[in-house]
Amino acid sequence: MDDLKGHRIVIPVALAGRGYDVTIESGCVLHGFAIQAREFLAQYRPRTGTNPRKVPFVADENSHRLFGEAIETSLESQNCAAEWFVVEPGEGAKSWGVLEPLTDWLLELGVTRSDHVFALGGGVVGDLTGFACAVTKRGCGFVQIPTTLLAQVDSSVGGKTAINTRAGKNLIGAFHQPSAVLIDPLVLDSLPDREMRAGFAEVLKYGLLGDAEFFAWLEANGSKVLAREPEALAHAIATSIRAKARIVAEDERETNGVRALLNLGHTFGHALEAETGFSDRLLHGEAVALGMVLAARYSARRGELEAARADQAAATVAAAGLPSEISQLGLACDGNALADHMRHDKKMEGGTLPFLLLKGIGKAYLAHDVELADIAVFLDQELRPGTVPIA
Ligand code: GLY
Repeated sequence: MDDLKGHRIVIPVALAGRGYDVTIESGCVLHGFAIQAREFLAQYRPRTGTNPRKVPFVADENSHRLFGEAIETSLESQNCAAEWFVVEPGEGAKSWGVLEPLTDWLLELGVTRSDHVFALGGGVVGDLTGFACAVTKRGCGFVQIPTTLLAQVDSSVGGKTAINTRAGKNLIGAFHQPSAVLIDPLVLDSLPDREMRAGFAEVLKYGLLGDAEFFAWLEANGSKVLAREPEALAHAIATSIRAKARIVAEDERETNGVRALLNLGHTFGHALEAETGFSDRLLHGEAVALGMVLAARYSARRGELEAARADQAAATVAAAGLPSEISQLGLACDGNALADHMRHDKKMEGGTLPFLLLKGIGKAYLAHDVELADIAVFLDQELRPGTVPIA
């Protein structure tokens, strides 16, 4: 069991020439940030004559309000001062409209390729900052400081960066690895419970896709993780990141099917998010949770997963307070409307959509023979439980 008392957990992401460490340590951001980050502060070369040295931070309003002061106090000890670019919370920040002033600001600050920009926030801030750094001077450094559970266990690690456009989410982006990821579980103390549960969905994902033992541990200890009990939380975060680091090291650019495993629940989930307008009605993690249950139920329908295992996945999702039945969403649409959203998925290739399905708990695989028409029939049944489909 991982335990943070008095020590840190360091997980390397092994990528030749672009490798970095993910550090998990209680207080590493809230108490002593500058010590933890000094390697990246030292590399910062400010415009001549600035004293104290200016360090660029991108943050959402909430993270800035909650953690900005602690970071500033810590930076003073290194004769550094934070310069803030603060964005409104929410997906709206992942846009051309915010990217442009952000990159202008980085250029005005005189950021060079060997400098580091710090991304303090959830997945939105990490994705936006990472992409801005990918394109500024053809690539400058950045450090991820994720402040949500979802960002800590998933989006801050692996170098996927992007903004959204009219055509869809994350369609403009780049693979650009951070130079470090600093995870302070203490920042989760102020995270709303709903956001905590949404992040927990991505933790469950690692168990379901490849680690039955971890899934069993989460079945028994999920409530402790959600209650932010330090040992349980550290173990959940560290186990998730070890899994992600392994996967990213094997398939950085999602070209050989290994990284695609991380999309378990995402194809169904993305369609549900699209149908609910990518709004607070259904958070990304909630959509992934329900998407994983649907992937399990569809796998059982194909005879590849025992129905009892699909029920087990649904029960674990429900026990975490996450949606486990599509009927809970009160959608007015039919299965075909949801399948239509999938037709616009960026993973569509040659008219088919690869689907992450399950052969067991901890045994995800990529199926290339799924017909969207069959998915539409399946979803119709899920939307109207109790009805018998016409053969
Ligand atoms: N969030 C999925 C990935 O990083 O590939």
